[in-house]
Amino acid sequence: MGLTLAVSACGANSDNSSGSSGDSSSSASDSGDGIPVGVILPETASSARWEGFDRPYIEAAMKAEGLAPHIENAQGDVQKFSTLADGMINDGVKVLVIGSINSEVGGTVAQKANAQGIPVIDYDRLNLGGSSEYYVSFDNVKVGELQGQGLIDALKDKPKGQQIIEIEGAPTDNNATLFYNGQQNKLKPKYEDGTFKLVQSQPIDDWDNQKGGQTFENILTANGTKVDGVVAANDGLAGAIITVLKKYQLNGKVPVTGQDATADGLKAILTGDQYMTVFKPIKQEAEAAAKLAAALAKGDKAAADKLATATEKDPVGNRDVKSVLLEPKLITKDNVKDVIDQGYVKAEEVCTGDLADVCSQLGIS
Ligand code: BGC
Repeated sequence: MGLTLAVSACGANSDNSSGSSGDSSSSASDSGDGIPVGVILPETASSARWEGFDRPYIEAAMKAEGLAPHIENAQGDVQKFSTLADGMINDGVKVLVIGSINSEVGGTVAQKANAQGIPVIDYDRLNLGGSSEYYVSFDNVKVGELQGQGLIDALKDKPKGQQIIEIEGAPTDNNATLFYNGQQNKLKPKYEDGTFKLVQSQPIDDWDNQKGGQTFENILTANGTKVDGVVAANDGLAGAIITVLKKYQLNGKVPVTGQDATADGLKAILTGDQYMTVFKPIKQEAEAAAKLAAALAKGDKAAADKLATATEKDPVGNRDVKSVLLEPKLITKDNVKDVIDQGYVKAEEVCTGDLADVCSQLGIS
């Protein structure tokens, strides 16, 4: 079952449900009956996930819980993020779910909401030093470990001294830190025993894919165009890096990691340009957020606490936040099929042009 089907099957009046358009004003979803809940997504450009997966899955899951979700996207603009939140608080939403741009704006919004007695759920990204009572995400250290392990697997038959460039996420996104920590759990021993040699590790402000590509090219040329493996923190950055590798005829020879199992990422895996991605079943994340929001909207804190089976440490606020943490999965060419079979990305989106043959060899349809 495809994504579109999944959404239309659940949303009775999904006339204004999103496509993957980035314009929040045209795709804002205000849906009929139910308890009003506000959802703010951070941006569009850093990953295809936010508008392509999070929005439709959250909308469907919340409606299924009897909620009326009002979903907006701040388009990477912290001022807009604040204004959207103010509007939702004024409108009397019963719960606010925020995938924030950075901890500062996320924390401010949570404080304002809390002052009005509105509970806040941090969605995907934890606001460090914040006051949100709940957090729904994946095991993000594990995401990084899968990336590190992916690179180790890809280079396992190579001689010592493989040269690695690391292109990381936004320094203001706690997830980027967790991904990095997870990667280092796997890579540090390899750097220490000389299997790998770190050329440079560079965080990219706002997860800006274009900046990521430029930064990578600068590091590559400064290193005499020598690279053996690349850590790219998500599929968007991987795509920009692969474009640079193509320019130097290095694509397909140098393994690149990724994350989000986007259609473009899966295609790059099938062509051999990207070695792996991390599949985070966002449907589960959306459903967990919807269930938590429903419990909180009804004032049933006991039910909410029961759903939050984990805790996440906020090292800045020095507190443990009640959490739902889901399992990410490593995807290489061997199991791209799993992502498609689950209906997360459609075969038609991936098996285009020359890839039709590869897809049929891999049993993807
Ligand atoms: C998310 C990733 C996403 C990145 C850029 C992170 O916080 O967990 O899935 O690729 O932000 O949007």
